[in-house]
Amino acid sequence: MKKVATRTDNHLVHSFADLWSLKQQSETTVISKARGVHVYDASGKQFLDGIGGLWCVNVGHGRDEIIDAIASQMRELDYYSTFYNLTHPLASELSAKIASLAPKNLNHVYFANSGSVANDSAVRILHAYFNRLGKPQKKKILSRIGAYHGSTHLAIAMTTPAYREGWDSAEELVHHLVCPNAYREAKGMNDVEFLDYLAEDMKNSIETIGAENIACFIAEPIMGAGGVIVPPAGYHRRMQDICQEYEIKTISDEVVTAFGRLGHMFSSQDMFGIEPDMITTAKGLTSGYQPMSATIISDEIYEVISAEGTMFMHGMTYSGHPACAAAALANIAIMENESIPQRVRTSGKTFENGLRGLESLDIVGQVRGSHFMMGIEFVRNKETRDVFDDEIKIGNRVAQAAQSRGLIVRPLGNMAVMSPPLILTDEQIEEMVTILRNSISEVIEGLKKNGDL
Ligand SMILES: Cc1ncc(COP(=O)(O)O)c(C=O)c1O
Repeated sequence: MKKVATRTDNHLVHSFADLWSLKQQSETTVISKARGVHVYDASGKQFLDGIGGLWCVNVGHGRDEIIDAIASQMRELDYYSTFYNLTHPLASELSAKIASLAPKNLNHVYFANSGSVANDSAVRILHAYFNRLGKPQKKKILSRIGAYHGSTHLAIAMTTPAYREGWDSAEELVHHLVCPNAYREAKGMNDVEFLDYLAEDMKNSIETIGAENIACFIAEPIMGAGGVIVPPAGYHRRMQDICQEYEIKTISDEVVTAFGRLGHMFSSQDMFGIEPDMITTAKGLTSGYQPMSATIISDEIYEVISAEGTMFMHGMTYSGHPACAAAALANIAIMENESIPQRVRTSGKTFENGLRGLESLDIVGQVRGSHFMMGIEFVRNKETRDVFDDEIKIGNRVAQAAQSRGLIVRPLGNMAVMSPPLILTDEQIEEMVTILRNSISEVIEGLKKNGDL
């Protein structure tokens, strides 16, 4: 990808970046245009967007229906708040639409503008809920090693510790359970034994911390940024049953997994058979056209937090912003009109199967994920599953090789991760798989030449 000079100093602070390295460079990578499943750099070079922006551009780039809906909403009402008893038509309409798509116990929606804040809001609401039930000590949160829940002070505490090295967080509130990654953690156990082991870990943790001190368990149906980890079959149901036994609320973090990525509007119930007490979502809600997230709350929790004599002491200026609500409604209409989740059940499987074919390559330890949420883990030795040294930067190497062939994938340590727009055709799927095969083969050759393999 061509790099172009875009600045004379360091005014823009990049996210999750090596700021020191950026200071030494006079260039950044600039994506300046996007259409459908493609993006273009500043020189006009075209790339297949293998990561859907950042796991978010579900209906593809440049959809006029969404852009027009935002523009016409802006002309009618640019902004009004949802504070006090105020609202505007689209905030109300969107909350009703989301309630109609979510599992049937989840009928109340609090809007914010990022997945991080959706998760913060979920926990704040649960803390208030338990305060009102006279259980103010129920504050702790169970999360998992490998989780990613965002990067505010609280959300990053719920995230796996590797994401906050050297930075502070509300870690005293969080206990991390074992990661349900069978490839790395099962160590010879079969799926049933591994599931028992994970359930034991949760039970032991609850007994040690004390259920009277635990508010909730938060989990992504499939972990994304932690390495696209699909838990063993029955995991979410088992975990929810344990939580219910101990009066611990469950938050399903569907920031990535909702709005078609796994072939359903929400995956918690439709794919994993659970009815969480809350679902948080963002990304695919607007396909990234506007920043918006939703914390979807059960009737039971809502009854408590809206009881007589209570106040909802939580609010954000842009909660339910008209432009975001317009984008979300237009985006959902596209998904429904074009049956995108239904189509993903076929095309996502084609993608999944195509990528699984790469497991024959020398350094591909495991291809995992589901539908349009996939990752490839690279290993030095497929038998022992030994990893490459960090300085080999194996994920980066594959991502660079793919980029030079016109495909953007996300390097993630010893992995390459894919979350493309959900409208990929079979030909584009084939193109992606071929580029990845050629890129990984080129990296293998280089490693062999240098004696690194
Ligand atoms: C599962 C999950 N939860 C929460 C977040 C945080 O969302 P945001 O970056 O919008 O704050 C992310 C972001 O990638 C995510 O993948």
